[in-house]
Amino acid sequence: MRFLITAGPTREPIDPVRYLSNRSSGKMGYAIAEAAIAANHEVILISGPVSLPAPAGARRLEVVTSDQMHDAVHQNLTGCDVLVMCAAVADYKPAKASPQKIKKGAAGLILELVPTHDILSSIGPERNCLVVGFAAETNDLEENARKKLRDKNCDIVVGNDVSGSDRGMESDENEVTIFFRNGETKKISRTPKKIIARELVKIFSNTREKRLTKKM
Ligand code: CTP
Repeated sequence: MRFLITAGPTREPIDPVRYLSNRSSGKMGYAIAEAAIAANHEVILISGPVSLPAPAGARRLEVVTSDQMHDAVHQNLTGCDVLVMCAAVADYKPAKASPQKIKKGAAGLILELVPTHDILSSIGPERNCLVVGFAAETNDLEENARKKLRDKNCDIVVGNDVSGSDRGMESDENEVTIFFRNGETKKISRTPKKIIARELVKIFSNTREKRLTKKM
């Protein structure tokens, strides 16, 4: 199967030397890419700025902003069997990036922010691939993850609690709950991201396989 995986943060420029971003390390998305390659799948990895080497065997496309990530996903969607939106895409970007470095002044500074494209929501229902979203939540994980599953028209949402520093963002470990469209859930207790990634790849490819068989 062909996996299209996004990973890492995006950076939204404020001026030539500053940007808005988040704490995503890219570890979960890269671990999924490695696990998919190990399971003999083809992998295109669309990566925001991270300090991780490209997984051997993956085609890595490096992007910086949410707009670039949006375009890269749409340009590579045709022929893909599983889209895994693991990236922590910025929700807002400065309304206008200043072409010159903003100088410091005595007064405060107000930045006007505008919403970015929601990449997951931009994937239409007529797609052929299985669409997997991630929901990083500090509270009400189940309710928020189910809402994302519906609102963003996903087939699967992988929810994780990012309220503690021992799991989720930047950490090597994670604990996730997988929410399926038919209401089923599956929990993977706290374990290294590499092990979670192997399980996730199995679940994604099995779900995709079942769907293909049903259609035939
Ligand atoms: N996502 C996306 N495009 C965005 C923001 C998020 O495609 N502009 C995707 C993420 O890659 C993830 C899912 O949407 O798969 C959920 O992201 P998350 O940050 O948890 O949720 P948001 O939609 O940003 O909502 P909120 O921040 O309010 O929880």
